[in-house]
Amino acid sequence: MDVPKGLAGVVITETKISSTKDSKLTFAGYPIEELKDLPYEAVVYLLWHKNLPNAEQLKTMQHDLLSSMHLPDETIRLMGDIALEPQHPMSILRTMVSLLGTTNNDGKLDEPREILGKMLTTIAAIIRLRDSQPQMQVNPEWGVVENFMYLFMGRRPSKSQVRMFNTVMVLHADHELNASTFTSRVVASTNADFYSCLTAAVCALKGPLHGGANEQVFNMLQEIRHTGVSPQRYIDNKIANHEKIMGFGHRVYKDGDPRAKILRGIAEEMADETNNQPFFEIQEQIASYMLEKLGLHPNVDYYTAVVYHSLGLDESTFTVMFAACRTAGWLAHIMEQRVEACLIRPASEYVGPTDRHVKPVADK
Ligand SMILES: CC(C)(COP(=O)(O)OP(=O)(O)OC[C@H]1O[C@@H](n2cnc3c(N)ncnc32)[C@H](O)[C@@H]1OP(=O)(O)O)[C@@H](O)C(=O)NCCC(=O)NCCS
Repeated sequence: MDVPKGLAGVVITETKISSTKDSKLTFAGYPIEELKDLPYEAVVYLLWHKNLPNAEQLKTMQHDLLSSMHLPDETIRLMGDIALEPQHPMSILRTMVSLLGTTNNDGKLDEPREILGKMLTTIAAIIRLRDSQPQMQVNPEWGVVENFMYLFMGRRPSKSQVRMFNTVMVLHADHELNASTFTSRVVASTNADFYSCLTAAVCALKGPLHGGANEQVFNMLQEIRHTGVSPQRYIDNKIANHEKIMGFGHRVYKDGDPRAKILRGIAEEMADETNNQPFFEIQEQIASYMLEKLGLHPNVDYYTAVVYHSLGLDESTFTVMFAACRTAGWLAHIMEQRVEACLIRPASEYVGPTDRHVKPVADK
């Protein structure tokens, strides 16, 4: 039997949520290039309902999300014990998502709007706690993205920051059957509750070959900037050591990730606004050298490194940001899998020894 490595290209389910067919990313049939400037809440609605909302539906979605953006006291208290250095924020998030499934006193364990609001608030709270900063409260007059930024930044973001981060959240909201989404669907197929599915998804996202790449990208930029080594030389060394360069390559997009093309513009604008041009310039040099040398294009994680740094985030929190953005998609897939109501249980080809027989100990 010929099993493609890493199940590459194997279709294991049908979905109406998103597609990467022909290397074009679409959500419910709409290209992301047309969705990128819509309010994040509208795109969440689209992923969950497969249609864009009317004004009333959008208002209700925003209201429902905002009214769930607070955490039970017990959750905050326990988070204080968990969210300490030297734990990695993704490890804290993994524990927190599981905890939310037990301390969410509102009892709304199966309501996606409630869960998404809680996830965003938890991720912002982890960042604030690690920085020993007080927790912020949502302002019902602002949208979800502005409030989320306020919760983790501790100050009201500028209009241009909200606009750009809205696009970042939309672009990350879903991505067909990536590793963490597949994981969430496998758990959902067993009829486990939403928080169990999300905990598993966070575990899958944590690895550097998936969501953990953005943190590694920034480490690379910092190393190049602080050691003064040329980006080309740095890449040559990595290649010589057979190491992968983080933020490049993609299982699906072999001619470039459509999200990276949009994110490049955002990284450049944010870097300009915050005097982070040196990082962006290093990125430009690496990107053109990688294309020339290995024919590889940047992926979604490449430019977000500079975007998140420009928002004042520590690199260790970059992957929890990815999780915040991707939660909408995970929830969409969990809901779709629940409707499908079929256990995912593939088969494997056994390639070990056969025809073995246990002998009595004395005969050995
Ligand atoms: C994302 C990724 C896992 C996709 O992998 P894939 O589809 O399985 O492709 P492969 O890993 O088999 O790569 C194919 C070839 O390109 C090379 N390659 C792929 N990505 C590379 C990278 N980032 N740096 C250097 N070489 C890379 C592989 O070494 C391989 O070369 P080979 O054929 O000589 O062995 C891979 O590109 C990667 O590890 N990237 C870095 C991590 C990253 O940025 N992850 C975020 C993804 S959004």
